[in-house]
Amino acid sequence: MKYKELIKKMTLEEKASLMSGKDFWQTQDLPQHGINSIFLADGPHGIRKQAEAADHLGLNESIPATCFPTAATVANSWSVELAEKIGDYLGIEAVAQKVNVLLGPGINMKRNPLAGRNFEYFSEDPYLAGKLAAGMIRGIQSHGISACVKHYAVNNQEERRMVIDTIVDERTLREIYLTAFEIAIKEGQTKAVMSAYNMLNGVHTNENMHIMQDILRKEWGYDGVVVTDWGGSNDRVAGLLAGNELEMPTTAGETNQEIIQAIRSGKLQEEVLDECVDRMLDLIFTTEEVYAKPYKQQFDVDEHHRAAQKAAEESIVLLKNEGNILPLKQGVKVAVIGDFANEARYQGAGSSIVNPTKLDQPWNGLKESGFVTIGYEPGFERYGKKSRKRIEKACALAKNADVVLLYIGLDEATEAEGLDRHDMRIPQNQIDLLDALYQVNPNIVAILSCGAAVEMPWIGKVKGLLHGYLSGQAGAKAMLRILSGEVNPSGKLAETYPLQYEDTPSYRYFPGKEVSVEYREGPFIGYRYFDTANVEVRFPFGFGLSYTTFEYSDLQVDRDGVTFSITNTGSMAGMEVAQLYVGCESGLIFRPDKELKGFVKVHLNAGETKRVTIAFDDKTFRYFNVKTDRWEIEEADYKMMIGASSADIRLQDRLFVEGTEAPIPYEKEKLPTYYSGKTNDVSVEEFEALIGRKVPVSKWDRTRPLGYNDTIAQCQYAKGGLARFAFWLISFSYWFLRKIGKRSTANIIMMSIYHMPFRGISRMTGGVINMPMLDGILMIANGQLLKGAGHLLRERKKLVKGAKGL
Ligand code: BGC
Repeated sequence: MKYKELIKKMTLEEKASLMSGKDFWQTQDLPQHGINSIFLADGPHGIRKQAEAADHLGLNESIPATCFPTAATVANSWSVELAEKIGDYLGIEAVAQKVNVLLGPGINMKRNPLAGRNFEYFSEDPYLAGKLAAGMIRGIQSHGISACVKHYAVNNQEERRMVIDTIVDERTLREIYLTAFEIAIKEGQTKAVMSAYNMLNGVHTNENMHIMQDILRKEWGYDGVVVTDWGGSNDRVAGLLAGNELEMPTTAGETNQEIIQAIRSGKLQEEVLDECVDRMLDLIFTTEEVYAKPYKQQFDVDEHHRAAQKAAEESIVLLKNEGNILPLKQGVKVAVIGDFANEARYQGAGSSIVNPTKLDQPWNGLKESGFVTIGYEPGFERYGKKSRKRIEKACALAKNADVVLLYIGLDEATEAEGLDRHDMRIPQNQIDLLDALYQVNPNIVAILSCGAAVEMPWIGKVKGLLHGYLSGQAGAKAMLRILSGEVNPSGKLAETYPLQYEDTPSYRYFPGKEVSVEYREGPFIGYRYFDTANVEVRFPFGFGLSYTTFEYSDLQVDRDGVTFSITNTGSMAGMEVAQLYVGCESGLIFRPDKELKGFVKVHLNAGETKRVTIAFDDKTFRYFNVKTDRWEIEEADYKMMIGASSADIRLQDRLFVEGTEAPIPYEKEKLPTYYSGKTNDVSVEEFEALIGRKVPVSKWDRTRPLGYNDTIAQCQYAKGGLARFAFWLISFSYWFLRKIGKRSTANIIMMSIYHMPFRGISRMTGGVINMPMLDGILMIANGQLLKGAGHLLRERKKLVKGAKGL
């Protein structure tokens, strides 16, 4: 232990007090030992430091900070350098705001396109997500503070996020859901990890010895701190045993007492606490060093704004360019249509929300730029209401233009933390507008703003399509520079765009049932599925156009990597993202046809050729063998594929690789669907054969009284009339708020009340309601109104007395 001497001097109470927050964002200080509080702030694409009223829902304003493009956007750049640069700027701003731990990046896999926080995550591919995250972490931590990679692990949906039990087989867990964390932790050297709200295979993630001890600590050698997600702690002692140092936010000392009691009763060894304190002290002391000397309390707002613009420029994806309608020719008359042109959609809702230092708006930018604009019309109502009048006005304007720039996308209430989307469509009123515009002027360039994949049955009606994702406070300007051709687009999709939602592999198993969600599709998520199962998609993973063209040639494969040439065969300088995919040819162990194992982004002037190398690493040939319980290499021929996207393989070769001689882990006849790769409809029996046990009952047990881990939504069948009434009231408020167009407020009800487990009432109220009081509330919910109310009042009195020291 690094701080053994100091720890020896601390009392049990003092040590335990470091294990949970002092308030919503800060840790406990112990001035008598020279230990300061440290500040944790969201993340991930800008600093959200709340100076006053604190919340984890993104409700109250924070100190202005640069809003960079969200992770889903940055991922399209496929540039580790860019991610690192953004991290660098985030680090500068975090220091200026005296933040010690920046709560990001978020690196959960995009298992399903509807998952509400996809805009905050990088990719459906763990290798890409891991590499970008590692870059961002290095950038942030180069300023002496800590990043906090989140949410560990398998947190891939918002529905019932605080209680849902994720059922996933060990190989899929390792290869798909943990690999990004492994890369972020080993290559990024993050000092902090945030555990996830959900359960994994029956155990809360922060209590899960398998992922917290066997994998995180022992296999990956992680010696940093694990912090719970806000309010995510279930059994504090079990969490501590698993190595979860910090619980956030404060519980006013209640859970520290639980730790103390556990030690006094012999349930927990004091050494376990000491180890946790040691790691916590290391986080505190190392991230405080920067503030011990004079540090920069200001940052150059304009420079950071320009950096955000540059990041967006590298991340925008050109998806369609019929007849080379883009870049716009000099002097063309453009009509600007779409509400998002006037008020940019540039970030998502929830805890990641940033109060931007500035905000570029497309329409203002267009007016000031060299474009010949003939006017602006909103064309549709942002939150989906139909308006014939708006469409008519937009058509009248479009008629007189050479090109229509149509700004469409999803609104901010649709993409929000705490809620998954209901479908993959953009609102019908926008599609109606496009249909009408197409009748009067087919020269339409659509500019799409949203943080996740959408269906595009309307794509035939646009000639150009640029996807800006959620491109941050300077995204509008970046887009204009792409439209004008000052910047050549170089982004490529970090997720697949299916033709329709029903084509997604997890379609039948998302968001699961009342208690659990079964990842029956196994490792076949994203392109791993579409490719192997031969399902046609709208846009494949890794796809993106440029204003120039690239040719690939002269592939050379050797033991250490692949080398090949790329030539810019067009007339404009540009950047190309070349991707290395590997596929095993043996067929003995089921696998996706191809998996991303490396990538490179190269800048090439017109006519220029460069020879590039992608080196192999420890992930290139490995698979996780559930029989030997370790990573192995299968002896086989491997297809080495160099692609401009996962579906556009330009060069190919074969390499024989010697294996580790591990036994084949599966009995093929028991897993026919997995061996076919068509895992969008796996029977429960076959899934059970894969996971090696029965799946848990997925329905609520309505006969049991409600307990700590049951959600407020379960009050619908509570014994107590008051609880059922409360449920009705909550449901009614949700319905009513949506009815009157207050969707964001309605969302907050879902996110912070409806799906919250009862224990959350105590975990999130900073000690106002403690666990004994919660017992009273549960008695009331379970039909013991008087007994419960009495208990509640008595416990409240005790708490108040205790606080007054009586
Ligand atoms: C989110 C985290 C966030 C935390 C603090 C939680 O609701 O899941 O990502 O860092 O709140 O705001």
